[in-house]
Amino acid sequence: MTQTSQASPLSGGESLPIARETADLRATITGWRAEGLRVGLVPTMGALHDGHLSLVRLALQKTDRVVASIFVNPTQFGPDEDFAAYPREEASDAAKLAAAGASLLYTPTVETMYPHGFSTMVTVEGVSRGLCGDRRPGHFQGVATVVTKLLMRCLPDVAVFGEKDYQQLQVLKRLARDLDIPVEILGAPVVREDDGLAMSSRNAYLTTEQRAIAPALNRTLRRVAADILGGAEVSDCLEWGIGELLKDGFSSVDYLELRDSKTLAPLDEAPDGDARLFIAAMLGKVRLIDNIGL
Ligand code: PAF
Repeated sequence: MTQTSQASPLSGGESLPIARETADLRATITGWRAEGLRVGLVPTMGALHDGHLSLVRLALQKTDRVVASIFVNPTQFGPDEDFAAYPREEASDAAKLAAAGASLLYTPTVETMYPHGFSTMVTVEGVSRGLCGDRRPGHFQGVATVVTKLLMRCLPDVAVFGEKDYQQLQVLKRLARDLDIPVEILGAPVVREDDGLAMSSRNAYLTTEQRAIAPALNRTLRRVAADILGGAEVSDCLEWGIGELLKDGFSSVDYLELRDSKTLAPLDEAPDGDARLFIAAMLGKVRLIDNIGL
């Protein structure tokens, strides 16, 4: 069996074992299980920020050992999206994960994830429709497929995902329920910069000028939420919000919608129960998303 490799000396003197082969991942987890330990999984695509590290910390509250995976998954990117340009920063990511308390980094390759002849994709109906599902055809199928594979490889007790990708979280909860995968899928609250911008690996693409405009996304979302809760007509509030973002300098707004928090069904009236506002907008070529509960 290949040895798990250690990341080269990392800042702060910390190093994190790295499993590059699935056999190594499984051997490590089998050892933990033999000791009676609970295992958490935090799947990521790397370029880690405090939002990702909060997922590791939440997983550690629920389990004894946390595996973080880094895999920039080609099947969830559209042909005109940023797969090739997506930042790859393994050494600094490993240092951050070690400092946050992860016990193992798993970094599969594209060749082992999708070997020659791979022909099974996982499709989650319902919650994958609308919002990002309409704007990014095939995206949630790519996410569902890779997360299914990561769950089967790791067999964790708990897997943690950020609420910034709220629709993704609902897709993955549905997936685990429908396929009887014995894992608890947990969502972690959005982590924000001081000015309200949701942390995202893609924020690194923003120019200084775009970065100054970006907080308008969350500001507008909060204002629209307050107006809806204050009794204003939902459609008027949404229309106002879109106009505001375009005035602030966003190039276009993919959607600004009020939806049921669990089913993601569209709502056109002020909610009785749990509702969320969802937004996606373009700043030049950078696509930003956010959501808040009402
Ligand atoms: O949220 C992400 O970073 C990705 O969609 C995920 C869940 C790691 C699957 O590639």
